[in-house]
Amino acid sequence: MRPRELRPRVYSVGAIDWDRRLFDALIPLPDGTSYNSYLIEGSEKTALIDTVDPTMEDFLINHLKQLEVGNIDYVIANHAEQDHSGAIPRVLGDYPNAKVVTTPRGRDMLMDLLLVPEEKFIAVGDGETLSLGGKTLEFIHAAWVHWPETMLTHLREDKVLFPCDLFGSHLATTDAYVADEGQAYEAAKRYYAEIMMPFHTNIEKHLERIKGYQIDIIAPSHGPMYDKPSFILEAYRSWVLDPPRNIVVLPYISMHGSSQKMVEYLTGALVDRGVTVKQFNLAVADIGKLAMALVDAATMVVGTPTVIVGPHPNVAYAALLVNALRPKLQFVSVIGSYGWGSKALDQLKGMIPNLKVEVLEPVISKGFPKEADFKALDNLANTIAEKHKERGFA
Ligand code: FEO
Repeated sequence: MRPRELRPRVYSVGAIDWDRRLFDALIPLPDGTSYNSYLIEGSEKTALIDTVDPTMEDFLINHLKQLEVGNIDYVIANHAEQDHSGAIPRVLGDYPNAKVVTTPRGRDMLMDLLLVPEEKFIAVGDGETLSLGGKTLEFIHAAWVHWPETMLTHLREDKVLFPCDLFGSHLATTDAYVADEGQAYEAAKRYYAEIMMPFHTNIEKHLERIKGYQIDIIAPSHGPMYDKPSFILEAYRSWVLDPPRNIVVLPYISMHGSSQKMVEYLTGALVDRGVTVKQFNLAVADIGKLAMALVDAATMVVGTPTVIVGPHPNVAYAALLVNALRPKLQFVSVIGSYGWGSKALDQLKGMIPNLKVEVLEPVISKGFPKEADFKALDNLANTIAEKHKERGFA
């Protein structure tokens, strides 16, 4: 594929990774991804916005050769994570005049992560600008919108925002811009849930801040670009700011059927009371789908059998994951079973300190659930439905 020109002398020069199926050895990528990099040629200087994953650096270099780029003055490093910065050493090798432009924190991190020498950096302040000749870059510091060194870059004359990971999606496509809004929304929501949700408070501040910029195109570093910025900005506003919905997320494991029976019973009881339930059997679930469900859910009920005296390890893993993602959940409870004794409840509570939630009365059955257990599940369903109603979650 040849580089795409999105504005006069502004090109997309990154790489599409159709085959990648796991990111950070953690996150499933059902639709692959891309590592977007952008070249901006001013009348005096040339800048490259971010690079690509080092496994695909040949694609970036070939794109630069196709454009007959003889010199790069600046490599703008919006973010130090290696899927965007990993090809910086190769670019600096092929274009020895280039300096890396980043935040002071970004400089320190890139020195640590990639062993780039200090003299190769230009550290820029928040709001600082850099003229390429007829094309002006403004750097917007956005610490903890993702990582502590993160910044966004705005190309003033062409009204393009380069936000790196923010607003991205793990989606391999030959479409330069969003073409299938349904597919793009799903991919961007999955990406928000897995990667951005822990930082939703800082994202909220920056959604407000970028209202002050003229933006015709949002060009993230993963997935297609947005030539209708309102599509992704409104989606983010909804994910970040909307109250939780009348939804229970129910991740669970069952080994011999007792916990499964309780999960099925509680699901029916909640549905009877008008509550939507999203079940995730953790033996087979896509954790990306679980993360997406957590964007909107008001309540999480965890279903677990007891292994030795603790929760099933898959459930412990899910609890730690949810704790890291910091969703908008308001209520949490646990249901499950044990054979001879259990500390599963206390152990699970200890795994979710980040969640500012009310813990609802758990239902733990000794062996297969009996009449009293089903009654307790009905009570739990009543409590959840009432609390959702009281808070106005629809
Ligand atoms: Fe796409 Fe935080 O890296």
